Amino acid sequence: MSAYLESNYKKVTTHVLQEMKLRGEKIAMLTAYDYSSATLLDVAGIDVILVGDSASNVMAGHKTTLPITLDQMIYHASSVMRGVDRSLVVVDLPFGTYQGNSKNALNSAIQIMKESGANAIKIEGGKEILESVNRILSAGIPVMGHLGLTPQSIHKFGTYVVRAKEENEANQLREDAKLLADAGCFAIVLEKIPAKLAKEVTKSLKIPTIGIGAGLDVDGQVLVLHDMLGITQKFSPRFLRRYHNLSEEIKGSVKAYIEDVKTLDFPNEKEQY
Ligand code: KIV
Repeated sequence: MSAYLESNYKKVTTHVLQEMKLRGEKIAMLTAYDYSSATLLDVAGIDVILVGDSASNVMAGHKTTLPITLDQMIYHASSVMRGVDRSLVVVDLPFGTYQGNSKNALNSAIQIMKESGANAIKIEGGKEILESVNRILSAGIPVMGHLGLTPQSIHKFGTYVVRAKEENEANQLREDAKLLADAGCFAIVLEKIPAKLAKEVTKSLKIPTIGIGAGLDVDGQVLVLHDMLGITQKFSPRFLRRYHNLSEEIKGSVKAYIEDVKTLDFPNEKEQY
């Protein structure tokens, strides 16, 4: 029986994730940005909830993750925290709050932890942000790394294609993963990289890797909730498995409601006082 189904389940911590890697139990992670979704994910038994800066896309309708602010991330994270009892909650440090200045990075991380009550932060990049990672870790804040396709660097990459296919970029990723792990990160997201490379990096690290478009041989998987539920429509990368077609169901329900209102079918006698 999976641990989360046992009545005496325990709160997921970074140490629990480490134990899961050691015993070969896969880690399931999904995004959430609001109280109601977070409650459902937590009760369903998700291990990790990521308050991703993908909120910039799926919540606010921006084309990239760059515009979301620290205050907006804290708003989403606080809402999620009010719905969570068991899952580990990780919050993205948004673009512009940690690059190039490790003191700013620490202040941003502290603000998130203090104001939202979250359990950890996630930060994109390797060697170039190592000073920020070290400073945040030195304050006792758990850090999850993020390598491969790092969406905050979309203007550098130019496209959202698979990363680290070429040997020099793959070598850089290997090096960055080791640096982050040695620094003390508790896990690393590997986004959209060849499955073979993800497997090799996963084997080489003592900390868990969480893949998105990185194949099966990683320690866990993450998807954006709105993508896997089929609420978002336009985003269909190969790695995305849709578990539902909620956009059609929601549109159908809204159409039925409109019809009921217009035809005076709603409310009926039992639905009034
Ligand atoms: O912001 C996000 O949702 C993410 C995941 C795609 C890993 O960083």
